[in-house]
Amino acid sequence: MTKRIGIVIGGGDCPGLNAVIRAVAKAAAKRGWESLGIVGGYEGLLEPQHTRVLHYHELDGLLTRGGTILGTANRGRFSAKTGHGEHRALPPELFEETRRGMEKLGLTALVAIGGDGSLSIAQQMFEAGIPVVGVPKTIDNDVAGTMLTFGYDSAVACATDALDRLHTTAESHQRVMLLEVMGRYAGWIAMSAGMAGGADVILIPEIPFTYESICAQIAEREARGRHFTIIVVAEGARPLGGSFTTCASDEMQREARLGGVSAYVADEVARRTGKETRYVVLGHLQRGGTPTNIDRVLCTMFGAKAVDLIATEQFGRMAAFFGDHVGSVTLAEAIRELSTVPLDGSYVSSARELGICLGD
Ligand code: F6P
Repeated sequence: MTKRIGIVIGGGDCPGLNAVIRAVAKAAAKRGWESLGIVGGYEGLLEPQHTRVLHYHELDGLLTRGGTILGTANRGRFSAKTGHGEHRALPPELFEETRRGMEKLGLTALVAIGGDGSLSIAQQMFEAGIPVVGVPKTIDNDVAGTMLTFGYDSAVACATDALDRLHTTAESHQRVMLLEVMGRYAGWIAMSAGMAGGADVILIPEIPFTYESICAQIAEREARGRHFTIIVVAEGARPLGGSFTTCASDEMQREARLGGVSAYVADEVARRTGKETRYVVLGHLQRGGTPTNIDRVLCTMFGAKAVDLIATEQFGRMAAFFGDHVGSVTLAEAIRELSTVPLDGSYVSSARELGICLGD
C-alpha cells in the first residue's frame, strides 16, 4: 500500500529546515511514498487544513535554502512550552482533532521537526496513539539524547563570523566588545563560537558570573599589553545570585523571552574598568541564511533516519546523532531534560586550560 506521510515543523525556524524536508521527501519517494507538507506548524493539520504536496521536482534547491517553505509557528493551540525545559499537557480533544485531520489527509505517519517544545507535543501525540517520529531542530543544541541538533552549527558559524569582525574593530579602538548570542538556557552557541572566535571571556547560563572575575581578566590582559577584550555572552547568562534577563513575556503560559544581558554587563564593566565598552546583540541573524556543510549532512542523515523509523514502525522515536552515526532515541528521553554544557566536559576544561575566563 502506498504510504502518505506528513512533515510538520514546530517552534522557531533555523537553517536546515528545508534540507530536512528535502531529505524526508526524497527518502520517502524512493520507497514509493508520497510526502505532504503541513503548512504553518501543527495547526495546519486542523480545520481549516493547510498543506502542500511535496512533488519530487520541487525539491531542487532546498538543500541550501534558509527558512522553511512550510512555515512554522511557536504559538497557538499547540503551544506547549512554558518555561525552562517545562511543557504543559495539551487537551486530549486536540489530539482527537489531529487524528481526524490526518485521516482526512490520508496520512499514515507524521515526521515532527522541532526543538524540545515541539517534540514534547510529538510525544503527547504518540501517547495519544498517533504514529509520529521526530527530528531534533534548534540552534540552541539543547535537545537531550543527541549530540547535535541541526541548525546549531550554522548559528555557531554566524556568531564566529561576528566575533572575527568584532576582533578587528576592538583591537583598533582598544575597546571591550561584547557579543550576545542566543541559546536560551544552554551555553552551547556561546561556548563553541567563543572558542572558535578566540574570545577572552565566555559567559554561559551554566556558570553564573561575577564582575570581579570579568574585570580581573580585562586587567590581566591590560597588564600584558592587550588593550582590547572580547566577551561572548549567552542570552541566558546571569550574575551569581541574580536572575535571567528577559526582554518580554508576552503571553500567559508562554516561555519568557531572554535577551538584553549584554547591555547590563557592558555598563557595569565600563563603570568598573573605565574602558570604552560596546555590545552587539546578534539576535535572529543566527537563525537565518543557508545551512553549513555540517548541518546539510546532518539534515540529510536525520531525514533519511526519520523515514527509516516510519518504515520499521518505530514510532515515538527521534533521529539522533551519536558522534559517528545517526541512530534514534525515544521522544520521551529527548524531552526529559535540556542538554546543557557539561561542567566536567572538554569545552569547559579546554577553555580553562587556555585561560579563557568563564566568569567564575
Ligand atoms: O530556541 C531558538 C531561539 O532562537 C532561542 O535561542 C531564542 O531565545 C528564541 O528562539 C527566540 O525566539 P523568538 O524567535 O520567538 O524571538
